[in-house]
Amino acid sequence: MDTKIVIIDENNINQNIINQAGTVIKQGGLVAFPTETVYGLGANALDKIAVEKIFKAKGRPQDNPLIVHVADLNIESLVKEIPFIAKKIMKKYWPGPITLIFDKSDLIPSTTSAGLDTVGIRMPSNIVARKLIEAAGTPIAAPSANISGRPSPTDVESCIEDLSGKIEYILGGDKSTVGLESTIVDCTCTPLCILRPGAITIEMLREIDEHIYIDKNIMSNPKNDFKPKAPGMKYRHYAPKSPVKIICGNLEKTVAKINEIVQTNMGNKKIGIIATDETKNKYPYGTVISLGSRNKPNDVARNLFEVLRSFDDVDVDLILSEAFEEKGIGVAIMNRLKKSAGFDIIKV
Ligand code: TXA
Ligand code: MG
Repeated sequence: MDTKIVIIDENNINQNIINQAGTVIKQGGLVAFPTETVYGLGANALDKIAVEKIFKAKGRPQDNPLIVHVADLNIESLVKEIPFIAKKIMKKYWPGPITLIFDKSDLIPSTTSAGLDTVGIRMPSNIVARKLIEAAGTPIAAPSANISGRPSPTDVESCIEDLSGKIEYILGGDKSTVGLESTIVDCTCTPLCILRPGAITIEMLREIDEHIYIDKNIMSNPKNDFKPKAPGMKYRHYAPKSPVKIICGNLEKTVAKINEIVQTNMGNKKIGIIATDETKNKYPYGTVISLGSRNKPNDVARNLFEVLRSFDDVDVDLILSEAFEEKGIGVAIMNRLKKSAGFDIIKV
């Protein structure tokens, strides 16, 4: 398939381009598009045949439901009811990087919800995303625009790498500002439950529901009889081609341990190191890439998937990564990093 690739200026939006991409969605085609979290791979959420194409293009397991993206707060027709507490979250954090799970209405085909009675809905803050949804005239189902299992794309180049030739249209914009997928909150239960951590943190959500908690199955190893409430969280994910190992603990000891592993393997293994600005000069050997400063965890989040992907372009046999404190957005950073490492963690 020929994929049309068009780059749009997010600060000076050309409505003709938006309309063109919107028409592709209307006609049942697939469009990759920017959002503030990661790039999405969109189809008409209400068109079963169109949605099936997403699963095929990504190689996505059939039991993994899609998030439905909307351009405004009027979601009544898509859900059975909007609990009062969900309304409060929508008012405070929409548009933005948070998906809410509701009981679905019959308008949502079971292909979109992967057979579940619930649906995840998100109103993105990215203006190109919202204009695209408006132009399509329908809610857009969109998983991250990567081949299943790979790190999510945070720029147009990564979408092109994964999906060129497989979909009708790639609408490119700026690099995603958040860089990690949306927080997912199950609003069908009391108290609310976080199914996937993201930039809207548990600390922020506790201002609305002081009892909200994180599904305990998502920060632990899937091998331990793991059944997360978000089906997608059980799959191996975010993985570069080479295995990743996380070194976790005191920073000085972490640096020493990484250097020790690099030196032990010298001559037989090429090693990549995921470092930070504070430590990057402390590794004399190995291919070192920094995620940014530890004092700017939002930068670390924004760069994480790009750095994981960039190791596919350098020849390494093993990637060693520093760890981050699990507070604020650090919870989401460590969730993605642990999954990319298949929970292979060395404590120091
Ligand atoms: O930030 C995001 O959410 C991005 C952008 C494109 O909006 N989308 C995204 O979609 O991350 P995806 O498909 O890569 O991840 C969706 C996650 C999966 O883990 C899936 O299992 C879960 O959301 N999910 C979707 N609908 C659900 C539902 N009804 N109940 C539980 N989990 C659900
Ligand atoms: Mg994904």
